[in-house]
Amino acid sequence: MFTKLKRHWEAKSSRSIISLFDDPNRAVEFSIDLGDLFFDYSKTQIDKKCRAELLQLANLKAVEQFRSAMFSGEKINKTEDRSVLHVALRNKSGSKIFSDGENVMPKISDTLAKMRAFTKSIRDGEFKGLGGNITDVVNIGIGGSDLGPFMATSALAAFHTGPKCHFVSNVDGAQIHDTLKGLDPKTTLIIVASKTFTTTETMTNARTALDWMTSKVVNPTNQFVAVSNSISNTKAFGIPEERVFDFADWVGGRYSIWGPIGLSLMIAIGEKNFDQFLEGAFEMDQHFQEAPMETNMPIMLALVGIWHNQICGYHTRAVLPYEQRLSKLPAYLQQLEMESNGKNVSTDGKKLTYDSGAIVWGEPGTNGQHAFFQLIHQGTRIIPCEFMVGAACAESYLTDHHDILVANCLAQSEALMLGLSMAEVIERLKLSQENRTDIGSIAAHRVFPGNRPSTTLVYSKLSPKILGKIIALYEHRVFVEGIILGINSFDQWGVELGKVLAEELTEIITGEKSKVSKDGSTQMLLSRIEAYKNL
Ligand code: F6P
Repeated sequence: MFTKLKRHWEAKSSRSIISLFDDPNRAVEFSIDLGDLFFDYSKTQIDKKCRAELLQLANLKAVEQFRSAMFSGEKINKTEDRSVLHVALRNKSGSKIFSDGENVMPKISDTLAKMRAFTKSIRDGEFKGLGGNITDVVNIGIGGSDLGPFMATSALAAFHTGPKCHFVSNVDGAQIHDTLKGLDPKTTLIIVASKTFTTTETMTNARTALDWMTSKVVNPTNQFVAVSNSISNTKAFGIPEERVFDFADWVGGRYSIWGPIGLSLMIAIGEKNFDQFLEGAFEMDQHFQEAPMETNMPIMLALVGIWHNQICGYHTRAVLPYEQRLSKLPAYLQQLEMESNGKNVSTDGKKLTYDSGAIVWGEPGTNGQHAFFQLIHQGTRIIPCEFMVGAACAESYLTDHHDILVANCLAQSEALMLGLSMAEVIERLKLSQENRTDIGSIAAHRVFPGNRPSTTLVYSKLSPKILGKIIALYEHRVFVEGIILGINSFDQWGVELGKVLAEELTEIITGEKSKVSKDGSTQMLLSRIEAYKNL
């Protein structure tokens, strides 16, 4: 499938990226400007011919047709027999969207209205805990029921005007212990966020939170809210229906921040700001649906991803936000990209003959620079870097910090592309005060190979709307890459086996099951853990 592109890459792989800028229009022609969001992919090896071939590939794989199918509610998630309609949660066009012959929009509006009313009542102090106004909100969830609200709430800290939000995801009791330790049960609201309301980690934490509250609050479930797709399970837990915020099964966990899973975010930043968050995503949806492929930001971001991973063979990509408040974004994108596109069979169940989705990782700059950038600059493997940076910051009295931050972001992509040759290193050493007599042997250590690709996403200033746009951009990027790779980006069977084995092992560890028939290693580890317990 990628033969033509691979041939092109083989012919051009030794060409320097900087030489592409001999064309004075390169920077403009290999970037996309959406007014408040700017995507620059000019510091890559993609040239006009290669871009044309990538676009041809997108055409061949019917990206535009699949895009229409998704937006119109067709059941493109075949293995789960579901529509994929997270875009409906932010549909502000007033148009109807159908799934299974039913217009999904009225229900979405009702749920949003219910979320808004509840949020207002918390923020205005009408909804009270036993001890008065709600001061703290604890969102208990994992995966998509945690990463989205946690990431977005951290990202929009500058907009917090509501109660303090905390997030508990890990079944490691240390997390819930440390979180609840400093809180007053009488003024705390617990949100149990789980699409299925069966996830072991979440239900274990929810029961612990209920016990904690029971010791101080007469009617503890009054201060519990559920966000779920399963009313029967929330009822069984004891949460009254009026405090259950439900969403349909066609919203995938990792795509669910736009609806009730975003309740903690709405409580933190308020209804209006949450609406701006949806507005940003809706604008990106419109752009994705309407812009020609060549100037379509999600499509081009996806094609750059395909180019680096499937064609050039660079299997990982680093997401590097130069924005401390986006520190949870790499983890969020890890789930979004790797749970969506980490598959080894195509939609028709056949083994893939090429690699599936990229390995995504990252940290905010500038911290990463002082940790792992060494390998990115001088290691033997090439890691395409996806930089992102805001033109301005929220703290107007700290613009000096921001200037340094921006300079560092640009310096990194420049350094990656230009590198530093042996001749330049020797020249520098000769001119330096170091007076080294062993230049010949030390010079190689200071050489930067350069010619390492990166993209940069520049936004005006981090706001609910900009964040909404960025998240929707990445969602659509994952979708387009999935279509090109011919895989279903909306199921996640790969997480199931471990869950089943963990259940069985829990019974062994707790002593409910004594008969153990495990592989030698697991057997040995079980005995070792048993022996170490009492050390
Ligand atoms: O185990 C993976 C997963 O199913 C994710 O896809 C999901 O986001 C997460 O677990 C949490 O699931 P739930 O919201 O049903 O608790």
